[in-house]
Amino acid sequence: MLRSVKKVVQTLENPHLALMTQPSSMNRFKYFIQGVKDLKTKGTIAPTSKYTSKQMLRNINFSKSNLLVELGAGDGSITRRILEQMKPEAKLYSFEIDPKFCGFLERIEDPRLHVINDSAEHLSDYLQQWGVDKVDSFISGIPFVVLPDALGNNILQQAKNALHSDGCFVQFHYSTIPKKRYEQIFDSVAIKLEVRNLPPAFVFTCH
Ligand SMILES: C[S@@+](CC[C@H](N)C(=O)[O-])C[C@H]1O[C@@H](n2cnc3c(N)ncnc32)[C@H](O)[C@@H]1O
Repeated sequence: MLRSVKKVVQTLENPHLALMTQPSSMNRFKYFIQGVKDLKTKGTIAPTSKYTSKQMLRNINFSKSNLLVELGAGDGSITRRILEQMKPEAKLYSFEIDPKFCGFLERIEDPRLHVINDSAEHLSDYLQQWGVDKVDSFISGIPFVVLPDALGNNILQQAKNALHSDGCFVQFHYSTIPKKRYEQIFDSVAIKLEVRNLPPAFVFTCH
């Protein structure tokens, strides 16, 4: 009780403290509840593990990347790792449809990160608006298996059209079944299993 009163007084004295003490990512229990509630758009009940994130970023040439796009950033577990490896002058545009998750993303204090609270299906419109022709690589957590096929294919095709010839489109899934779909859009698809994830994940790297 005394501790809570002290915290309120401290916060009133220093309003920045309120911001600083807010969690920078969603706790696992809340993530689980949110995932179960919105399974049709989240497609998962736990954030991606650091091992899967590392596996996803392994094939991205960060020293040559000036512009990266993340699709379905969630609460930012992969976003932070992307930023850790990015050049100081590079930019990351992270699309996320859930405003609650965008709140967490916006707490990441990094001027290179631009959070877009909109569906990735509007990707081409944004790129045109920003005057961007090519994206160096895409990192995606969008649960394409639970989205309507037409919507998912539309997003994937827009990403393929904008993808730089040296870049890659990286995505994770919980099975290899969606491989065919990626093969119909991209020139090549390589898959790596990462067991240190809940549930184990398959990382798809598409060129
Ligand atoms: C499986 S979570 C991945 C979160 C995070 N990238 C991670 O790996 O922990 C998928 C995220 O994609 C978002 N999402 C689903 N459909 C989307 C769309 N059309 N455009 C942008 N984000 C979308 C969901 O709201 C959810 O936060």
